[in-house]
Amino acid sequence: MTKTLNIGMIGYGFMGRAHSNAYAQVNHFFDLEYRPVLKAVCARDREKAQVFAAKWGYESVETDWRELIARKDIDAVDICVPNNLHKEIAVAAAAAGKAILCEKPLAMNSAEGEEMCRAVEAAGVPNMVWYNYRRVPAVTFAKQIVDSGKLGKIFHYRANFLQDWTISADLPQGGTALWRLDVAAAGSGVTGDLLAHCIDTALWINGSITSVTAMTETFVKERKHVLTGKVEKVGIDDACAFLCRFANGSLGLFESTRYARGHKALYTFEVNGERASLKWDLHDLHRLQYFDHRDEGTLRGWRSIHVTDGEHPYMGKWWVPGLAIGYEHSFIHQVADFLDGLAKGQPVGPTFRDALETQKVCDAVLASARSGAWTNVS
Ligand SMILES: NC(=O)c1ccc[n+]([C@@H]2O[C@H](COP(=O)([O-])OP(=O)(O)OC[C@H]3O[C@@H](n4cnc5c(N)ncnc54)[C@H](O)[C@@H]3O)[C@@H](O)[C@H]2O)c1
Repeated sequence: MTKTLNIGMIGYGFMGRAHSNAYAQVNHFFDLEYRPVLKAVCARDREKAQVFAAKWGYESVETDWRELIARKDIDAVDICVPNNLHKEIAVAAAAAGKAILCEKPLAMNSAEGEEMCRAVEAAGVPNMVWYNYRRVPAVTFAKQIVDSGKLGKIFHYRANFLQDWTISADLPQGGTALWRLDVAAAGSGVTGDLLAHCIDTALWINGSITSVTAMTETFVKERKHVLTGKVEKVGIDDACAFLCRFANGSLGLFESTRYARGHKALYTFEVNGERASLKWDLHDLHRLQYFDHRDEGTLRGWRSIHVTDGEHPYMGKWWVPGLAIGYEHSFIHQVADFLDGLAKGQPVGPTFRDALETQKVCDAVLASARSGAWTNVS
């Protein structure tokens, strides 16, 4: 370990904590040339930022992200703020020559995403988007199984992301905790927030999506806005379902909602091929279900693989076979891969360009929901 990477993190909420934990842990478990240094955290409230900095070990605090980006001692900018700020920060960080780690979705829409891609590519700075589910070992393993050809020709890809936390009509929109309900801050509702994860995994495992037909619904039409104090129209999609066609000929079925009473973060996906199928469930994230039609007839059935063996992706870095790891480890794996890529001078996916593909599918889904027509992903 010889090189340092000075991190400047903007935003210290849910993802700020997940990323800070990843930076703190990564070199304990992975042998890497680079070591992240928690140089500065940026948030608008200095006092709160100082409390966060002290708790997580950041050396300094900024209250204006422009000041953070201007600092010579910052090598990489980590964008952990609401979606409407991603583009402006990323474009400025790229112009300043910083490596950029940006939270998902890449942007509010693909026009913004294109601009962000152009900025990082013109500046030649390393860039990555935090679609962290790719680095859950069971999900990485699913990708390896599909790539190995064990499933044969793929017929179906199916994914859900179900929650239930916005059912109450009394829940306001906007402001610190509830920016996800405010279209001006989030860009969209479950499509950009939850389905974007499902789409990223799907594109990674099953290839491009060519066309979509979608429906969305906003069940609660008006909510009080925290920032204005007024009751305002809700502009986000509360629920979204879409059908799609993949370039490999398979059919896709995706659903997401925040109105599925009883479900908190039920991200599931299933892939059905001519010879075998697999499925995964975030609530049981260290398991991968696998069915192989070539198994002996009377013993044929779904295998529940506990993805904790040293030979499984990333697991050789952790404890001993049989001991599970969790959600936070997906971020640690992503940082480890990013630092490894930096040492080798290689891009690490999902790059901004990869994440733009997800953004384009989200845009097509929302356009189809508006028009009611099948829409090509362009
Ligand atoms: N990868 C994932 O699984 C995942 C999970 C949750 C959120 N996210 C994404 O991460 C991003 C942040 O989401 P979150 O859940 O951490 O939100 P959050 O509300 O918990 O935190 C947002 C942070 O941004 C700060 N902030 C807002 N405006 C700012 C400004 N102008 N300057 C500096 N700081 C500012 C807030 O103070 C807060 O600390 C979003 O893009 C979201 O979509 C990704």
